[in-house]
Formats: sequence, C-alpha cells, structure tokens
Amino acid sequence: MKALEGVRILDFTHVQSGPTCTQLLAWFGADVIKIERPGTGDITRGQLQDIPKVDSLYFTMLNHNKRSITLDTKNPKGKQVLERLIKECDVLVENFGPGVLDRMGFPWETINRLNPKMIVASIKGFGPGPYEDCKVYENVAQCTGGAASTTGFRDGPPLVTGAQIGDSGTGLHLALGIVTALYQRTNTGKGQRVTCAMQDGVLNLARVKLRDQQRLAHGPLKEYSQYGEGIPFGAAVPRAGNDSGGGQPGRILKCQGWEQDPDAYIYFITQAPVWEKICDLIGEPTWKTDPEYATPPARLPKLNAIFARVEQWTMTKTKFEVMDLCNAVDIPVGPILSMKELAEDQSLRATGTVVEVDHPTRGKYLSVGNPIKLSDSPTEVERSPLLGEHTEEILRDVLGYDHSGISEIQQSGAIGAPQAIAAE
Ligand code: COA
Repeated sequence: MKALEGVRILDFTHVQSGPTCTQLLAWFGADVIKIERPGTGDITRGQLQDIPKVDSLYFTMLNHNKRSITLDTKNPKGKQVLERLIKECDVLVENFGPGVLDRMGFPWETINRLNPKMIVASIKGFGPGPYEDCKVYENVAQCTGGAASTTGFRDGPPLVTGAQIGDSGTGLHLALGIVTALYQRTNTGKGQRVTCAMQDGVLNLARVKLRDQQRLAHGPLKEYSQYGEGIPFGAAVPRAGNDSGGGQPGRILKCQGWEQDPDAYIYFITQAPVWEKICDLIGEPTWKTDPEYATPPARLPKLNAIFARVEQWTMTKTKFEVMDLCNAVDIPVGPILSMKELAEDQSLRATGTVVEVDHPTRGKYLSVGNPIKLSDSPTEVERSPLLGEHTEEILRDVLGYDHSGISEIQQSGAIGAPQAIAAE
C-alpha cells in the first residue's frame, strides 16, 4: 500500500504553490480530486504553452497523479456537489486569493459544520497583518520574505532566484502541516485549519540571514567578502554574492572552458578540516604551516586572494575533473550543472528524480519526480489529468450520483455548458 492510501484530498489549488503540495500528497498515495472551473480550468493549463491547445508543461509538471472534476462552485447545483465532496474528503487544500472561499459561501465554520473531521489547508501571500488582503506570486514572496535583499552582489540590485522558494517552498511547508494535522486527527478525531503564508515560508528558508542580522550587532560578518575588502557593513545584512551562507568560506570559481560554456564553474568550499588537502591539491604546500594562511581567522581577511589562487588551479581542469579530484580527498565541491545536464543525468533517471511521462495529447515529456523517497511507499508518476477527465467518474463513484442525478447536474451547467458536455 501507499503511505497516504485512503486519504482523500479535495484539491482547490491553482498555479504553483498549492498544486506542488497536493502533487506530493498524491505521490504518497492520497486520492487527489482537483476541482477546476469549467471551460478554463487551472490557468496554468494555458500558460507558457509550447504546443498549441495542449496542456502546458507548467501544468503537467505540477499536477501528476490527480483526478480532475470541473465544477462551477458559484452555480447552486455546483455548491450542492461541493458540499457532498466536503463530506467525502479528509482534507481541503486551497490557495485562492484572500477571502475567496468565504465569498464562495464556504468559510471554515461552514466546512467544519459539514465535516468536523476535515482539515482545511490554505496558502496565502501574507499572514494576518497589514498585507493579509494582498494577492501574491512567487517573486513577491521572494522579495517580502527576505531572500531578494540578501541575494545578488553587494554593488548590484536585489536578485530573485530560479528555485521557486515562494511557491514550491510554501507548498512543501503546507504538505508537512497537512500530514501533521492528519496525524493529530488520529488521536483527536477532529479537523483543524492549517495555514502557511508565503512570506513566512521564504523567511524560514532565509533564516541564516536573520541570524546574520543579529550577528551584525556584535561586529562585522567576517566570512563575507566585503570584510576582507575593507568595506564597512551597514544597518542590514548585505548581499553576499556567492559567499557561503555557512561558517565555511566558499565561492563559485571558473573551470576549463568557461569562456564558451556559461556553466563551466564550480562551487569551492575552503572547509577548515581539509585545508591542508586543498593546499596540496592547488600546489601551495607552504600555506599549510605559514601563519598567514594556516588558520581560518588568518585566512578570512584574504579570501579574495586565496580564492583567486584556487581558481588558477580550477581553470586548468573541467568542473567534473575538479569534482573527482576534490572528492577523492573529501573536499566538498559543487559543479554548476545546467538543466540540460540534469535532464540527461542517468543516475537521476535511475532514482526516479527525473522521469519520462507519456501524455495523450503532448506525448512524452520529462518531469521532476518525487524527491522524497519512502522505502515502503514508492512513487509511480502518472500523467496529469485532462480538464474534467474524471468528472462523471467522481460524481458516480465518490459521491454516488446515479445516471439521472448526473444528467441533472449536467443540465444545470454546474460542470460546464450542457451542450459542451453532450459533445464530449
Ligand atoms: N468555480 C467558480 N468560481 C471559481 C472557481 C470555480 N471552480 N475557482 C475559482 N473561482 C473564482 C473564485 O471564486 C474567485 O472569485 P471572486 O474573486 O469573485 O471571489 C476567482 O475565481 C479568482 O480567484 P483568485 O484565487 O483570487 O484568482 P486570481 O487569478 O485573481 O489570483 C493568485 C491568483 C495566485 C494571485 C491568488 O489566488 C493568490 O494570491 N493566492 C494565494 C497566494 C498564492 O498561492 N500565490 C501563488 C500562486 S503560485
């Protein structure tokens, strides 16, 4: 069996943050029923389309292993169907704009009355406070959660990162909240609300920078390059370029071929326990005992010069040669892998972290599989559903509507225009 077998999720999510969460739950075996607006569905189906009239990769890569039902929840009959779904499901997950669920006629109190065991999980941009009514997207969260002000180079503007820490990061946080609430329910028998604000999720991931903010009160941040460059610190944590966020100084250094290949670089860490091995490898054995270089405090003011010397060495090797030579003596390094290299990486294919999926209208495409591996609950990645693909199946098998009941719902327009349904 799968870990979450028997758990039924009413998936009211759209775009990225919420779908990331429910996709994980589906991969762990939950039955995820995605409610979509008739006609359009999740807006991402049509966004960044690479093939005309085919569900985008944006949508397909975030909605695996789910079932799709179209339902107009503002239609009176649609509301009745939604009420029945609430009674049949364990968890409702939503990431609507603030107040949308209330306006739809389904505030927490109503849901809790319909199904006291239901867990209602929500993602919003902000928690309670001055910005609680604001709509939020990924980069807004990266900026308001402290990531952007601390990313980039000191003398450049704030930067956002390609990793979707606002959307997918918050989806991950919410998934943990949901399984925790499900666990508590096994003892209490009661549902509860689980909320996750994207600002909070990003700040949680940027927690080392709030650490540094407080360290600033006690002196300069010596592992930041600007310390060695003699540039004074201001009132807030500065952007630190590619300096390491931990206690070990690190930089991104050029490797052989960097002139042509934008990804011919490696992250190099001058970790104190392996300093002597680094000296031997780069050809500076005297640095092992020279008091100017032998200890971490002695090295801190001259990190730029030290990394420049290491880079002279890395530039004579490919990033993979540096990786092999360093790991042979336990020096941690990180080659900058392009998306092309990751897509072609056979070990990621073997573990199911990169999977090939077949889709009826798109054909074969690559996706990122479940990064969390459970030994007793392996993940099989299934394609995303077509819009409304499972509408009748869910009405019949989950909610118990008979033929005339389904036909009545169809005629009401609650699952789409009546004529459109007839033509399907
Ligand atoms: N049937 C009928 N109406 C539906 C429906 C359905 N099945 N599904 C959605 N709707 C309606 C809602 O009721 C709402 O109507 P209302 O505004 O009249 O009450 C409307 O669709 C818009 O919903 P909303 O969530 O506000 O969508 P949006 O496109 O305007 O905003 C976001 C998108 C992402 C900005 C917003 O949802 C948001 O801030 N979400 C929380 C934070 C978040 O998750 N952001 C990251 C997304 S990756």
